[in-house]
Amino acid sequence: MVKIGVFDSGRGGFSLLKHLFESYPDWEVFYIADHAYAPYGNKSRKQVQERSLYLSSMLVDKEVDLIIVGCNTATALSINLLRETLSTPFVGIEPYLNVINIHPELVHAGRGVVLSTQGTNESERFLELQARLDPESILDYVGLPRLASIIEDAFDYSSNCDLEKKVQKELHTYIQNKYDFAILGCTHYPLIRSLIEKILEVKTYSPGEFVVKRASQLLGLKADVLEPLSNNRTFNYYSTLHNKWETVNHSNIAFNQ
Ligand code: DGL
Repeated sequence: MVKIGVFDSGRGGFSLLKHLFESYPDWEVFYIADHAYAPYGNKSRKQVQERSLYLSSMLVDKEVDLIIVGCNTATALSINLLRETLSTPFVGIEPYLNVINIHPELVHAGRGVVLSTQGTNESERFLELQARLDPESILDYVGLPRLASIIEDAFDYSSNCDLEKKVQKELHTYIQNKYDFAILGCTHYPLIRSLIEKILEVKTYSPGEFVVKRASQLLGLKADVLEPLSNNRTFNYYSTLHNKWETVNHSNIAFNQ
């Protein structure tokens, strides 16, 4: 059986799990949420690298076949180091800038913005990606200091009545720019995709399904099944706040928006 490890600063990487569960119902998934050190977006490169290496080693101890870095910030700051240090294959996630080259009609039709954490937005790796995929700076780039934490908190309270207000406040500066599309460059953001689309009045894009495809390619597997999610689907979950592995049902990967 294929064993996959995924980690993020919190539950942002859950936005990848749905693609993974639907395409590969048999894969055993080990997910680590680094709540004790979240958020990553305002941490130094060194801190994010240390945490990424530590969590990846925990996943290696579980004998996973491949690790998905389910976090744009950790990918930006640490994936080179992870690949140099550990022999397990890694798949990272980066803001889906290439959507403007794949769908040039988007750019003709309107303006786009890339939303990410400050850590990703200011990283060298992301600047290189921009130079390669958006050399004329067609897109605007925004590093949001609080959005990932706002979304993370929404998992912890049974009532999310303040979520919309908080997201509105975080995004309000950008509403007046009247963007037509937004690239979601943090794995937390697709968890509230419809709310972001409503507040900014945009269409949104994120690369979750391609990350999962890349993982299966690297494992030399044939393409995906795409099955409806079984109610019994579970995965192994570890939060660094509780320090124990638990078996969790997939219904826990979403919250009411
Ligand atoms: N989910 C993360 C990302 O994709 C990190 C958010 C954070 O901890 O700041 O960047």
